Amino acid sequence: MIPRHRPWEEAAEFTIGLKPIAPACWLEGGEADPAARKDPLFAASRALVWAEAPGSRAGQAEVLALIDDALGPAPARGDLPPLYAAARRVPDDLCLLETRDGQWRLTALSLCAGSFFTAEAAIGKSLAELHGPVTGFAERFLARVQRIFDGLRPGLVLERRNWTVLNSAALHTPASAPIRAGIGGIDPERAGRLLNLRVERQTVRRLPATGAALFTIRVWLAPLESLAGDPARLAAFARAWRSADPDLRAYKRFDLYDGLVEGFLRKAET
Ligand code: HEM
Repeated sequence: MIPRHRPWEEAAEFTIGLKPIAPACWLEGGEADPAARKDPLFAASRALVWAEAPGSRAGQAEVLALIDDALGPAPARGDLPPLYAAARRVPDDLCLLETRDGQWRLTALSLCAGSFFTAEAAIGKSLAELHGPVTGFAERFLARVQRIFDGLRPGLVLERRNWTVLNSAALHTPASAPIRAGIGGIDPERAGRLLNLRVERQTVRRLPATGAALFTIRVWLAPLESLAGDPARLAAFARAWRSADPDLRAYKRFDLYDGLVEGFLRKAET
């Protein structure tokens, strides 16, 4: 199965790349029972996948109402926090941001497919703090991203995609160390099967009643070898892999995968 989104075919660069989409296309769906995946994590690893700040329940309730509106009414959900009740209806992770002390900050999040970050580490952080580890973000992107949040009008839904390559087929990847520790043991012959394209489809929109913003993250995974057999598709990926911006290449640790990816490309290109 090739990944549903292939952002490297549109731009070899990692950019802000936010585009308006029709509100009817906001939720992609495509997972039969997200609660079956999320509930065990919520029960067993709560701090990794869920956090809320005091004063966020009104914004959370507005998200739940929006999702119930989009999907139709849901069965009773006990006393779950409203944002988590909403998150278990959709494949996406849901992040609520509100202005606190003049900064957009995460005030609640359900994060069951986090890419090397956790709910407990992210809660309360500003856009600047969240992106602190991303090389070059403060200089190149931060001011624009803050302006985008400030200027969001209700009814406007913006979408962006990003991607990476990871030696994991799991959606729940809170920590990088155990995953990266396995790279050295990968048989180059099996790289196409063991390395996964990891694409995040993200949306952001303003909530009209509370003025909060909702950021959604949906992760799509597909083995690298799904690109083989289609020369144009393979060439677009190879171009993006090889020409990725050095800052983001370094941040995403493409260097750790270079030998395996290049070996896969050489074999697939012949
Ligand atoms: C619409 C607003 C946002 C924009 C335009 C944006 C943009 C970016 C960009 C350009 C990167 C660098 C690499 C890439 O392309 O992924 C990045 C990384 C990241 N962003 Fe954002 N961001 C936004 C909102 C958020 C929010 C609200 C969160 C918190 C939940 C967040 C968390 C992260 C994390 C954790 C990374 C590192 C991802 C990784 O390890 O690959 N971002 N963001």
